[in-house]
Amino acid sequence: MASIPVQTAGGNYSVRVQPGLLQNLSTHLRKTGLAHGKIFVVTTPEIWKLWGKAFLASFAKQPTKPEILFLPSGERHKRLASIEKLADEMVERGARRDSLLVAFGGGVAGDLTGFLAAIYMRGIPYVQVPTTYLAQIDSSVGGKTGVNLRTGKNLIGSFHQPAVVLTDPRLLKTLLPRELRAGMVESIKAAVLGDGAYFQWLEKNCSTMLRGDIDALTQAIHVSVRIKARIVSADERESGQRMLLNLGHTIGHAIEAATQYRKLLHGEAIAWGMIAAGRLAVARGAWQAADAARVERLLFRLGPLPKFSVTPQRLLQLTDADKKNRSHTRNFVLPVKLGRAIVVTDVTAEEMLAAIRSMMQTVQELGV
Ligand SMILES: NC(=O)c1ccc[n+]([C@@H]2O[C@H](COP(=O)([O-])OP(=O)(O)OC[C@H]3O[C@@H](n4cnc5c(N)ncnc54)[C@H](O)[C@@H]3O)[C@@H](O)[C@H]2O)c1
Ligand SMILES: [Zn+2]
Repeated sequence: MASIPVQTAGGNYSVRVQPGLLQNLSTHLRKTGLAHGKIFVVTTPEIWKLWGKAFLASFAKQPTKPEILFLPSGERHKRLASIEKLADEMVERGARRDSLLVAFGGGVAGDLTGFLAAIYMRGIPYVQVPTTYLAQIDSSVGGKTGVNLRTGKNLIGSFHQPAVVLTDPRLLKTLLPRELRAGMVESIKAAVLGDGAYFQWLEKNCSTMLRGDIDALTQAIHVSVRIKARIVSADERESGQRMLLNLGHTIGHAIEAATQYRKLLHGEAIAWGMIAAGRLAVARGAWQAADAARVERLLFRLGPLPKFSVTPQRLLQLTDADKKNRSHTRNFVLPVKLGRAIVVTDVTAEEMLAAIRSMMQTVQELGV
């Protein structure tokens, strides 16, 4: 089995990736040495309907069964009210400091459960069992947990590293194709910022992945996680290196905000954001046009991207509101080679606007 180590000040753990892992879930949980008390699983009714039976199968011979807690699905339930409700339920069902939480779901369930674990009785351990491609390659790794406020996404949270991440790529069999495509954007992002050979591999294997081939997906998850693990191991809290993971996210987040988080999936907004970032890099002579074009071609091979309409001025304004911008300077991640990106602080508003305009032109031409 592939096991990728993550080493941070907040804890060392591994990400285990194996098709069929769910069949041995209870053994994997016991191996953490943390499953001596009760196990509480946070999931959504949809995921449980699809995978609940398979999840419980490995507990058949165990004396105690896990307690299942339901979170309604959807980004709008990623908020403090859900945390309070789940925490009350945990108390009622006997959760103590020696209990173990398990997040069984996509990034929404993962972020929320991680935060619940971070603050329940001042902190209990938790395990990620991610069920979407995005969660398997990205959100389950790195220990960023939290919920949204009405005023913005992910504004309340903490760093709380999981005890282990247990990833079964077979769970992706039931994922909607659009969700898979959106997640694959983050793989392309990881390749562009951190691994040129992986980018070539994705060019070759993208269609196989889109068909749902488990071997190809497993390989991609493995490499994507390795890139993320390398970066968060160097920088748990986003002071330097970790900022690279925001490639395409400055403008992508602005697009999400401008469209009220409704029209586009996160990955789709990031795809547009990467296109804009690439063009900005080319315009300032930091990146070869041919490489930027290759990235755009690969992004569009995932499928058409949704159209949206917003003025370039408004998008620019929204990028300034991005919480990752330190006051006065504009941090921006620039691709400089296939496999390497850098963080710069001298991108001007004019450059941003030109890149946004150019991207919006493509939104009009190729968006659907
Ligand atoms: N913590 C981090 O570092 C980090 C990084 C990136 C994103 N995120 C967060 O992740 C969230 C997005 O995650 P997501 O894209 O996984 O969304 P999600 O959790 O909402 O899942 C997307 C959809 O897929 C469904 N689903 C999940 N697993 C399935 C399966 N196996 N089969 C069929 N359907 C399934 C869900 O019910 C949901 O409708 C956002 O809140 C974002 O802020 C966090
Ligand atoms: Zn992202």
